[in-house]
Amino acid sequence: MSNLKQEILKLLKSDRFISGQEMADRLKVSRTSVWKSINGLKTEGYSIESVTKKGYHLKEHPRYISPTALKVLVEGSSLFTRMEYLETTESTQIEAMQKLESQEGAYVVVALEQTKGRGRFSRPWASPKNSGLYLSIVLRPNIPITEIIRFNLFISLALSEALDAAFGVESGIKWPNDIYIKNKKVSGFLTEVVSESNVINAIICGIGINIYKNEDVTALGTATDIESEIDPDREIDLDDFMKKLIHNIEVYYDRFINEPFSSIREEWKSRSIVFNKKLKITETNESYVAKVLDIDSDGFLEVLDEAGEIRRVVSADIEL
Ligand code: BTN
Repeated sequence: MSNLKQEILKLLKSDRFISGQEMADRLKVSRTSVWKSINGLKTEGYSIESVTKKGYHLKEHPRYISPTALKVLVEGSSLFTRMEYLETTESTQIEAMQKLESQEGAYVVVALEQTKGRGRFSRPWASPKNSGLYLSIVLRPNIPITEIIRFNLFISLALSEALDAAFGVESGIKWPNDIYIKNKKVSGFLTEVVSESNVINAIICGIGINIYKNEDVTALGTATDIESEIDPDREIDLDDFMKKLIHNIEVYYDRFINEPFSSIREEWKSRSIVFNKKLKITETNESYVAKVLDIDSDGFLEVLDEAGEIRRVVSADIEL
């Protein structure tokens, strides 16, 4: 993707109309090059309006993340060396796994549609075209596998904060891997690990976010999407969200490597939606009802079950 397209996109994102000549002068290129780049952006899904004597402006953002925006992100990233862009795939988790040998360092795989998207506990994750964001991030921390619980806590904070900043919503974290808005799930992530002798070789973290209304996603009444929750006067700008998400992942991944959970515990707690509620907790072999009291400095939930016993929950499914 040419740098010119990226530069023109930046100019089009300013609030006013801008003429082809002004863009050509500012970027020191010909009018024809500007025109070609604008057509290229239109093909990528940007709705660019042109008005005689006024010039161009960006009318609507595409309903999907654009390749140009991803290019900009990877170039400016302190962590990721590559971002793979796919129109459709079975699952970005599978794609990301397959690249572990051939691709070094940290990278991201983004797809506009998944035909076999999956969630935690092998549940399906509905991933219709142009409805959500589906991505997998690969990181190679070289730390003991037991640290993965802490990783989830840092990533959930990165995701929840990015949603709020980009869309002006108030999201909350449902321990361990879900993001909710007003008691409905808007996003979830799945953390898979490749390890050797209990040391992590790679983390493959798959993130799914419901963006636009889609019956396949919200049919059960337990899920929501950004389009339903955002202030109607506000635009859904996926490029901007992706920028904020990648930035937050960079920041919180660095903190995960260098800091204990206690450094984000208060921030995390202020976003948690599970405290002081009676919830159904399902661990590997049993289900029980308990009230969530706190989260300890290691990131384990402290819950009080109906027999009055305090338990420490490491990994579980929680129903609100
Ligand atoms: C969950 O809430 O159960 C986790 C959902 C994770 C879905 C994402 S979408 C991108 C990546 N690819 C997948 O197949 N799953 C994850």
